[in-house]
Amino acid sequence: MSCKQYFLIVALAACCFSVSASDQTATDTSEFHKALTLTPNADNGREIYRSCATCHGPEGWGRPGGEYPQIAGQLRNVIIKQLIDIREGNRGNPMMRPFTDTRTLQSAQDIADVAEYIAKLPMTNQNETGPGFDPEHGRKLYQDNCTDCHGDRGEGDEKKAIPLLYGQHFGYLVRQFHWIQVGRRKNADKDMVEQIQGFHGRDITDVMDYVSRLSPPKEKLARPGWTNPDFPHFDRGRFRYVNVEMPPTPEEQAFEEKTASGNE
Ligand code: HEC
Ligand code: HEC
Repeated sequence: MSCKQYFLIVALAACCFSVSASDQTATDTSEFHKALTLTPNADNGREIYRSCATCHGPEGWGRPGGEYPQIAGQLRNVIIKQLIDIREGNRGNPMMRPFTDTRTLQSAQDIADVAEYIAKLPMTNQNETGPGFDPEHGRKLYQDNCTDCHGDRGEGDEKKAIPLLYGQHFGYLVRQFHWIQVGRRKNADKDMVEQIQGFHGRDITDVMDYVSRLSPPKEKLARPGWTNPDFPHFDRGRFRYVNVEMPPTPEEQAFEEKTASGNE
């Protein structure tokens, strides 16, 4: 894509993009907007998070390998949107959907409370990084294609519910990027989908390698040795990564076939 075309897309994205992206997704915008405006209750957020810690860990740092993301420190509006999207089946991974149903998250208030709790958890910068093949190429790809939405340092945009990317595990970044590209993650921003259609193979590895090395700023990081005091008895030794192979969906298969002739 030429520079000119790229800037045109970005300009269009800037003027058409709204916080809920409601015209592109099935996000329940009334619940989303309600959760955004409620005053969070910290005690309730902590209680609800107990059911999340099994997978995301008591610190919210996820696990290397790509199955469980680091969610600690993510922007509050992003967490709210993702929870509602997962509940509505707009994201491909069925594993955590049961934990977003109305038994665990009974109301917009519950969503607001747990989102606030997670957003305030300090982050780790010991996330899994990529193979480091070509850092300069990764940096250039990121700067040319991603900064307008995700920011120069991967800081995201709270108002527009654009995720912060720093501190995320490499495997998770690659998987989500691929799922957004092939349409498995139905809540994706359609301008992003368009922007990244030309990315394949090494480009994806290099750009995500760069992103996985962006460090969260100091004020968002946990102190060395910090563990979440709300979970004094959690058996962290059991907390190890289990790899789960996901079969390709029809959308993924169609995408693979379309690009099989090689664009790499
Ligand atoms: C059974 C394991 C499991 C449990 C329990 C669980 N999650 Fe998740 N969560 C996941 C997985 C797996 C993903 C990645 C989903 C994907 O790949 O699309 C995820 C993704 C997320 C995301 C999106 C992160 C991002 O960067 O887009 C948020 C936010 C989240 N979980 C919050 C929660 C909250 C809040 C709870 C508790 C109410 C919870 N999770 C319980 C497994 C779990
Ligand atoms: C037009 C704006 C835009 C551009 C350009 C864009 N993104 Fe995104 N990106 C988004 C939005 C919005 C989301 C969240 C979509 C949703 O609600 O699920 C997202 C989600 C993501 C996610 C999933 C994060 C998570 O925590 O689940 C990754 C990874 C990502 N983008 C990487 C990139 C990279 C790398 C580039 C550049 C090659 C890029 N994006 C370009 C807007 C954009």
